[in-house]
Amino acid sequence: MKATTILPLMAAFVAGVSARAPVTLNLTGHIDASQVMSFVYVPFQVEPETTSVYVLQNYSLKGQGNALDLGVFDQRGYQLMNGVNDNFGSRGWSGGFRNNFTITPTWATPGYNPGAIEPGTWNVVLGPYNSVPAGIDWQLQIVMGFDPVDTYFSPTFAQVDFDTIGQFEQQEWLRGDFHMHTVYSDGKYTPDEQIQHAVAQNLNFIFFSDHNTDTSNNIIGAYQQAFAPDLLICRAIEVTTRHGHWQAAGLDREQLIDWRYQDVAGFVDATKQVHRAGGFVSVNHPFAACPACNWGFDDWDHNDAIEVWNANFDSTDQQSIQKWHELLVAGKYTAAIGGSDSHSPPSMNGVPTTVVNARGRKQSAIVAAVKNARAYIVEGPGKSMSFNVNVQNNVAQIGDKVHGSSAGAQAFLTVEGMSGQKACFISDKGYFYNTTITDGQALRHQLPAGLKFVRVEVRNVTDDSALGLTNPIWFL
Ligand SMILES: *[C@@H]1O[C@H](CO)[C@@H](O)[C@H](O)[C@H]1NC(C)=O
Ligand SMILES: *[C@@H]1O[C@H](CO)[C@@H](O)[C@H](O)[C@H]1NC(C)=O
Ligand SMILES: *[C@@H]1O[C@H](CO)[C@@H](O)[C@H](O)[C@H]1NC(C)=O
Ligand SMILES: *[C@@H]1O[C@H](CO)[C@@H](O)[C@H](O)[C@H]1NC(C)=O
Ligand SMILES: *[C@@H]1O[C@H](CO)[C@@H](O)[C@H](O)[C@H]1NC(C)=O
Repeated sequence: MKATTILPLMAAFVAGVSARAPVTLNLTGHIDASQVMSFVYVPFQVEPETTSVYVLQNYSLKGQGNALDLGVFDQRGYQLMNGVNDNFGSRGWSGGFRNNFTITPTWATPGYNPGAIEPGTWNVVLGPYNSVPAGIDWQLQIVMGFDPVDTYFSPTFAQVDFDTIGQFEQQEWLRGDFHMHTVYSDGKYTPDEQIQHAVAQNLNFIFFSDHNTDTSNNIIGAYQQAFAPDLLICRAIEVTTRHGHWQAAGLDREQLIDWRYQDVAGFVDATKQVHRAGGFVSVNHPFAACPACNWGFDDWDHNDAIEVWNANFDSTDQQSIQKWHELLVAGKYTAAIGGSDSHSPPSMNGVPTTVVNARGRKQSAIVAAVKNARAYIVEGPGKSMSFNVNVQNNVAQIGDKVHGSSAGAQAFLTVEGMSGQKACFISDKGYFYNTTITDGQALRHQLPAGLKFVRVEVRNVTDDSALGLTNPIWFL
């Protein structure tokens, strides 16, 4: 009874009192050229009752030698998340893609997290990425509003487990793509476009992996229901750092990973956050040509996988395969995966497609398949591979570690969509058998003695680009 009498009174009160005038701050500053690749924090006070924060950035010689990333930390602070501190105040990041954003309890600019605006000291983070010798002169206009709010954002997460009644517990090869972007970071594709492409590309799962933000992961459930209820849509973030990009895949709901560390110890701390959540870590496009896109640390001990094939196959992917092969020869069980890195037309997700041997249609099963290297990569839809080794009447599959010698073992390769191309068998000693392959016809090859592992590639006979690539089968 009481509530029904009080509520209309409050509504009348809100309607009758005009909101406070917004507070505007104009801040300026200078970043020295020597600060490139660091992060600069600009504090500002958020008063109680604030219901919107708008930030507009401008700086000298934009696109003419200067580049300044943009993001914001709320009253929880901007200290680095690490083994000691897990209070992570990030409230959004748009890198160099946007010059302004708004955050309210109801909605926010894509890449920024809507929700309660708590009073206290917030910090705009400016990330100089490029600078002319004279440095960067920046301006920030910050507008805080007090308009009453009556609707509140609530996330709609995608279902990441289709296996709730155990109906998919059989092992199954699932086709997917670990790496794609949307308008929630620097892509032009909307989430529903990426989802519809994934269906058209015959994928069973995709990972949204916007740069340093979970905001696409927080809204994707509604799109999954509307456009592709059978498509598993899993959670990733492309952790985009000053020392390379990596995939934090298989994350918890609303999990963010710090991207501001400047040393290997910081990277290792960040990988622990991912592993604690049950996810996997993959080094993305380790030889990509753009500044700070290539892998910056000579650390290959804390990643579960390497994205050896990023988008259309090129010479940097060849370098990645070479690096991965060296790690295998050194005895590391690092998995090879692919990622389309699809952002905007004409790039399509599913190019390449990674096919994983999962036990169950769920995020955790896909992560487990990657951690065990039960995966192969093909150039796209319409292509598939099957690769086994018979050792003393046991059938070893991709990723298996066989206790026994390779001597006398029979390798079997069958492909679809690659007729007339070159199949290559590779061991720790290098390429040892190349031959032409025909779709649907099992190719059998007796393995020599003394191999540590065997893996296969299918190469284009014309330009030697990869069309398919498996993870190894190991002989222990
Ligand atoms: C801040 O800058 C804007 C745009 O230049 C201007 O319109 C406004 O008056 C300034 N506000 C304050 C408080 O200086
Ligand atoms: C942006 O900054 C540049 C250089 O500091 C200045 O010339 C320009 O007027 C600014 N633009 C706006 C809209 O304030
Ligand atoms: C704010 O960003 C949007 C794109 O996110 C852009 O269209 C708009 O022009 C920007 N506003 C200003 C004042 O630059
Ligand atoms: C087999 O093919 C690979 C990939 O094209 C090539 O690098 C290698 O030299 C070939 N080996 C032989 C023995 O032809
Ligand atoms: C092989 O490479 C050639 C030259 O780049 C290209 O025209 C052809 O389509 C490729 N074949 C396949 C099966 O991808």
